Amino acid sequence: MPDCCSPKGYRWVFSERAARGEAKRYRRKGLDATSARIVAFLKSQGVEGRTVLEVGGGIGAIQIELLKAGAARATSVELTPTYEEVAGELLNEAGLADRVERKVMDFAEAASQVDGADIVILNRVICCYPDMPRLAGAAADHARQVLVLSYPRRTWWTVIGLGLANLMLLAARREFHIFLHPPRRIIATSERHGLRPLLNQNGVLWIVSALRRAA
Ligand SMILES: C[S@@+](CC[C@H](N)C(=O)[O-])C[C@H]1O[C@@H](n2cnc3c(N)ncnc32)[C@H](O)[C@@H]1O
Repeated sequence: MPDCCSPKGYRWVFSERAARGEAKRYRRKGLDATSARIVAFLKSQGVEGRTVLEVGGGIGAIQIELLKAGAARATSVELTPTYEEVAGELLNEAGLADRVERKVMDFAEAASQVDGADIVILNRVICCYPDMPRLAGAAADHARQVLVLSYPRRTWWTVIGLGLANLMLLAARREFHIFLHPPRRIIATSERHGLRPLLNQNGVLWIVSALRRAA
């Protein structure tokens, strides 16, 4: 675990309570806008029979939607254990528990223990981890076909807003930090691992990028 952040810090931000709130929202309203963009893009590329690896997938809503759309199996690799109970409940409700394997580990550190998949997803994860090249590089290495990433835009207002949020986290000794890794470096890292850009779509806050393994 890097110096800026500790397991305690991650557990505070991504608490059981927050996980329950997200699940409640998903049950009522479905996917949030950024997750829906990712699922729509992947469906447009075809998910039938594909395997999915989602890193930092939280409650696992994207995995559920892709399995419902025909994906074969999914693996979730999540750093904090706080989502496991509620994610299991959602899988049972959807009748999909036997098609998802959930692992709790730091993917950047333990990537060699995880099999590759046709589709790899990191939705709003890179901004929660200091060592972007290690995390994005491992994700790219695991993508047999497509890697989909979402991360915050780097604008003057995200620099100020996230800077203030980090000051508050520091003042409260929360042992957690939000990172605005430069988008160009994220894409360049994925390209160095054999992927080629396919999609770069700006939202208000989140960019959704997809890259495909070069033939
Ligand atoms: C902002 S949340 C996003 C959750 C979900 N993807 C979503 O968009 O709703 C970031 C998640 O990434 C996880 N995470 C961060 N770094 C990780 C790593 N190295 N390996 C696995 N999970 C990680 C955190 O535990 C957290 O659940």
